[in-house]
Amino acid sequence: MNRLKAELDKDIRDKLDAVLEPIVLTNDAVEKIMAIFSKHMDLANSPDENHRKKSDLLMGNSFIRELLDGSEQGDFLGLDLGGTNFRVVRVSFKDGKAETTTQYYTLLESVLCGPVAGVFDFIAESLADFVGRYEMAKLHKNIPLGFIFSFPSSQVSINQSVILHWTKTLRCPDGIGDDPVALLQAAIARKAKDLPVDIVAVMSDTVSTLMAGNYLDKDCRIGLILGTGCNAAFVEHISEIDKWTGDDKDPQHVIVNVELGSFGDSGCLDQFRTEYERELDRYSNHPSSFTFEKSCAGMYLGEFVRLILTRLIKEGVLFAGQGDKLMEDRWKFTTSHVTDIESDKGHSTVKTMEVLKKFDLATIATAQDVAIVREVVEVASRRGGHWIAILMAVLVNHVALPEVTIAIDGSLFERHPKYHDSMMEVLNKFCPKSKVKLILTKDGSGQGGAFGAVSALRQAARDLH
Ligand code: GLC
Repeated sequence: MNRLKAELDKDIRDKLDAVLEPIVLTNDAVEKIMAIFSKHMDLANSPDENHRKKSDLLMGNSFIRELLDGSEQGDFLGLDLGGTNFRVVRVSFKDGKAETTTQYYTLLESVLCGPVAGVFDFIAESLADFVGRYEMAKLHKNIPLGFIFSFPSSQVSINQSVILHWTKTLRCPDGIGDDPVALLQAAIARKAKDLPVDIVAVMSDTVSTLMAGNYLDKDCRIGLILGTGCNAAFVEHISEIDKWTGDDKDPQHVIVNVELGSFGDSGCLDQFRTEYERELDRYSNHPSSFTFEKSCAGMYLGEFVRLILTRLIKEGVLFAGQGDKLMEDRWKFTTSHVTDIESDKGHSTVKTMEVLKKFDLATIATAQDVAIVREVVEVASRRGGHWIAILMAVLVNHVALPEVTIAIDGSLFERHPKYHDSMMEVLNKFCPKSKVKLILTKDGSGQGGAFGAVSALRQAARDLH
């Protein structure tokens, strides 16, 4: 796929191209990656456990089958634990509208890498703060709550799950093999006894985002998170799920969580990965895992860019070989810096200069350096957008409807001015039978937790009949 190029001295242009060309995913690579991903989805869907083990995807049934239809009434809660931020969301349904109140709480680094009980104590205390702040206990005895727990887990039922790994910012020494709902209930018993909540569902943020997107747009069949991490869910017909063991009552569909961040962990993507992705993996919180996520999610894009810039500095292409602060400080160049630089429009370089200033480079940067930085950021971002769109193209083709909306939540998609267009470049080309629309469902993942709670109650009522 073509890319935009800045006017540079010929010698510099050639050196820059030699570094950037291998970063661009060719159409041939896109087709190959689509085929590999489809194969891993088929394996993950197999009734044979030995086949499933060969898939990189921890793809599984979310047990959520009821989508919302606008007839909902009353107050529901969503709790969203995904990375550094944790949020509590109240959704009040009235007359076909869903009014949302959100409160953010920040987890400290010491809690993120301490015992799992500390993380859940913090959640329980925050929940108690929220319920107190909005005086919810006065009105309710048992507020139905959907817990969005966005870490690889194996779902056992609609409100029971088993933690498989920690990813992203969480590094607790324990918790693997535990049920996040039981951990939350125990923390509530310790820290906020008598809290009037009933945890009726646990789900991935992809599932909740899909539910929130579907509430707004009935063509929404896919939910995608592009934030600290990256993952997707889609609506699947139960007849298509070879490993299905549930009942065959209506509705005939269920939301499937793809857990695609681990795609590539078997080495199947190695031929497409760059030296920068390998290096950032080595220095990441969880090396040799979540290969795909490290190619496009918000936690990693900034470091990917920094490693390319570092190489260019070392080759004398950038900043006349200077830039110690940038070269030495791993992870300090963040995805916010990337989105800031990408926000510079036309010839304006204001945002780029602000970022360079943070790395003591503003005074030494020439106009050519600034142009190179912008080009690197653009090429790297575009690669990220293409990577995720390749997997989305497979899902869209699988869903196989004339119109498919993908609901997206997460700071990367929300703040990056060009991710949408980069993704559409791939989707327009590789989904010939569907018209694809990408919609931002801001805070959809938290809001959708409350939607999941509605769904769980409906399913329980249905099962009684
Ligand atoms: C990580 C988690 C996944 C989550 C995603 C987005 O990939 O493993 O469960 O959906 O991040 O938050």
